[in-house]
Amino acid sequence: MEGWILRPARPEDGPIIRRMIREARLNPFGLHIPRFWVAEVQGRVVGAVQIRPHRDGSRELASLVVDPAWRGRGIGSALVRAQLARAREPLVLICRPELEPFYARFGFRRLRPEEMPPFFRWVHRIARWLGRPLRIMGWDPTEAVEEPPEG
Ligand SMILES: CC(C)(COP(=O)(O)OP(=O)(O)OC[C@H]1O[C@@H](n2cnc3c(N)ncnc32)[C@H](O)[C@@H]1OP(=O)(O)O)[C@@H](O)C(=O)NCCC(=O)NCCS
Repeated sequence: MEGWILRPARPEDGPIIRRMIREARLNPFGLHIPRFWVAEVQGRVVGAVQIRPHRDGSRELASLVVDPAWRGRGIGSALVRAQLARAREPLVLICRPELEPFYARFGFRRLRPEEMPPFFRWVHRIARWLGRPLRIMGWDPTEAVEEPPEG
């Protein structure tokens, strides 16, 4: 199987990162390219993720995306693990319910509203009001334990 490398994004990666995010219908706002890391295969960017800071001091693991042709090979997991390995502070993320088990593998757990930083409590409230099922999950470097693989 082809190998990939993970590295911080460069300015010229901007267009492909934005395209992958647009095509995956992820939030197109707050895409500050220097905050991103990318996965690259033979010189081509095939995945991305960022850590987005919020005004309330919280940090969000956001914009995780892998090119559809490259999904299911561990690239998304590698991008998540690389961010967790660098993180010294708790991280929060917003995901669709079906991705909750994926993020639980890395030690993210669903937050109760009273545990959510203000920005995420606000998102949670709006999502409920709109009837959109979203999960707000948190990871804390001092308590996170990765789930063992199944089987
Ligand atoms: C989510 C995503 C980044 C995973 O990337 P990846 O490189 O395929 O991830 P990995 O190969 O490390 O892990 C794949 C696992 O992701 C999970 N997964 C991916 N998409 C899923 C979905 N729609 N529903 C449920 N689980 C899903 C599965 O557990 C899958 O395991 P499997 O391959 O054994 O079925 C990729 O599917 C993607 O870009 N999706 C569109 C954008 C998106 O939804 N991003 C998440 C925003 S919160």
